[in-house]
Amino acid sequence: MAKIVAGVATSHVPAIGAAIDLGKTQEPYWTRVFSGFEHSKKWMEELKPDVAIIVYNDHATAFSLEMIPTFALGCAAEFAPADEGWGPRPVPVVHGHPELAAHIAQSVILDEFDLTIVNKMEVDHGLTVPMNLLFGSPTEWPCKVIPLAVNVVQFPPPTGNRCFNLGKAIRKAVESFPEDLKVVIFGTGGMSHQISGPRAGLINSVFDKAFLDGLTKDPVGLTKIPHVTYMREAGAEGVEMVMWLVMRGALDLDVQETYRFYTVPASNTAVGHIILEPKVA
Ligand code: DHB
Ligand code: FE
Repeated sequence: MAKIVAGVATSHVPAIGAAIDLGKTQEPYWTRVFSGFEHSKKWMEELKPDVAIIVYNDHATAFSLEMIPTFALGCAAEFAPADEGWGPRPVPVVHGHPELAAHIAQSVILDEFDLTIVNKMEVDHGLTVPMNLLFGSPTEWPCKVIPLAVNVVQFPPPTGNRCFNLGKAIRKAVESFPEDLKVVIFGTGGMSHQISGPRAGLINSVFDKAFLDGLTKDPVGLTKIPHVTYMREAGAEGVEMVMWLVMRGALDLDVQETYRFYTVPASNTAVGHIILEPKVA
């Protein structure tokens, strides 16, 4: 059977992608950020997942503002990197797992989560930057990827509680897939940031660190945070953190936090990263 073997969360930030693409990773500003992922890349290389379910947000790239699905599951065989204004990022095409994705769609929709099925979709920095942070910059990505795009761009995004429960339903779906597959699930986006308006540049490390603590020890407590609290405490784009709760819902309530990294800032954003693994009996 397929099994979720770990959960990973990380911020995205387009400037991280630009630093990689423009060869700036050795600059002191960027070594501070990338140093936090060295351990994680080695860990991922050893884990060798077959599939990564990556919960991320599209930034009006694949969907534009004309049509905004709340939850969109990528069921295609491949996903091309999008042109976000400077040409597509020079990263490999992302290969999907259409069989597992279709199985997840069926299981989760019949469990009454109304996912949008997407059979053609380009993927932006929201997906490719976390992939670089965890997989490095290979010529081919080392595993298949099932993108799950969540609307956190236009109000109202789904609640943290809905995201957490969707994570539980995804786990049930994965665990009923007959093939032996090692699956890792990513929650991406966050942490605190606001990129426009009078509060642009807002970062709240106290809130972020409490969220990281809660993610490990009290995820159900985090599901009760209303949108307005994310907005007030973590900035308008801080609401991206609800996506981390999809990942968390797909894991045991009791997990071990095997790695954590936090640094401020990358561009306008606080960068947080955590690895959660099953507790060893
Ligand atoms: C920044 C962060 C984001 O999450 C994003 O989508 C765009 C810009 C930033 O920090 O600059
Ligand atoms: Fe973003």
